[in-house]
Amino acid sequence: MKATDVVVIGGGAAGLMCAITAARRGRRVVVLEGSNKPGKKILMSGGGRCNFTHLHSTHANFLSANPHFCKSALARYTPYDFLEMVETHGVAYHEKSPGQLFCDRSSKDILNMLLDEAAQASVTLHTHSPVLEVSDGSPGYRVISEKHAYETESLVVASGGLSIPKMGATDLGYRLARQFGLDVLPTRAGLVPFTFSGALHEMMSALSGVSVQARASCGSTSFTDGLLFTHRGLSGPAALQISSFWQPGESITLDMSVGESIEELLRGARESAPRKKVASVLSQVVPRALAEHITDDALPASTRTLADLGNQAIGTVAAKIHDWTIKPAATEGYRTAEVTLGGVDTRKLSSQTMASLEHENLYFVGEVVDVTGHLGGHNFQWAWASGYAAGEVA
Ligand code: FDA
Repeated sequence: MKATDVVVIGGGAAGLMCAITAARRGRRVVVLEGSNKPGKKILMSGGGRCNFTHLHSTHANFLSANPHFCKSALARYTPYDFLEMVETHGVAYHEKSPGQLFCDRSSKDILNMLLDEAAQASVTLHTHSPVLEVSDGSPGYRVISEKHAYETESLVVASGGLSIPKMGATDLGYRLARQFGLDVLPTRAGLVPFTFSGALHEMMSALSGVSVQARASCGSTSFTDGLLFTHRGLSGPAALQISSFWQPGESITLDMSVGESIEELLRGARESAPRKKVASVLSQVVPRALAEHITDDALPASTRTLADLGNQAIGTVAAKIHDWTIKPAATEGYRTAEVTLGGVDTRKLSSQTMASLEHENLYFVGEVVDVTGHLGGHNFQWAWASGYAAGEVA
């Protein structure tokens, strides 16, 4: 068994940031990564361009049973701190929608930057080293992986959530939390596409590939962004965002013509061009295929031109577009989810350092903790900020 100062379990975003920060302080740091490469989720993120932060990230962009927990870490390591590292390494980036920063070239730039920083700070990184067992060494911890055994003063659990099992996700972090007396809140897939059954599934499948700007709402929460019909249901940023707020059995409501009144559009067109087809007029604001589906669904075949359309029928079409309430059958689950909601309960963690309040020198950082960001770079910002908070003291 080798001795070291800090063992970090998991070489993802949070683990690498924590390792770099601790090693820069002169600590001997070992990262044990279970899969064949570190940072696989960084590589696949943002469609290969890694949306590595959001300039306006605040605690309001996170879901947690304790919404205040993330404030301290987010305040002490801000998006501008990460940006400073990005700029120092000459990584080219751009702002896509307001605040969302993406690499110009490839997510590899972010991972290579972190690996360079880790190498410069003399972090030891072992891949192919899934951690099997941790025991209390009092003082310190004994960590056994498939290939290595370490005695360490500090232990940082950065093993992530359950999403994308193919990329190496495991439940180790939750098991360790329970082992050391922390609670684990129920987990579920977040930022994940919806699936539908029956007639809704058939309709969405027929519209597969069509996208529209929409406001998706669930209860009192709503997001306006792109919505994409898929062969299984609904995806796109608006659907992913609202999926984190949805519980099985609930309905979601879609407004697919935000800020443009369908009622006014159809009434106006009925005056000016009564011979026009309803679907053609609707296709000025929604994609043609969707307009045709909506008219086929909402109107009898005899009322497909505007002249045939009474005010009640206009109201029916408008409601289908502005206030379409539908019940998803499920989500695609962890297989495609970007994040895992729930996880290690923050009540027994320090919000300043991510340390267990009961076990000395034990830390939980990143997605394994019950802090989950909205889409848009917030999840990486949490990984950087929580990793940094622990790395400053571990
Ligand atoms: P992460 O999952 O990154 O790392 C955990 C590491 O621990 C993994 O490398 C895993 O192999 C390892 N591990 C697990 N069990 C282990 C064991 N027993 N022993 C040793 N190692 C073990 N966020 C964002 O802000 N912007 C974006 O653009 C995107 N895009 C995106 C796309 C897709 C497809 C996904 C799936 C996710 C995103 N995200 C995102 C979310 C983001 O990737 C996520 O929140 C962070 O990667 C979480 O970082 P962590 O380091 O906490 O976990």
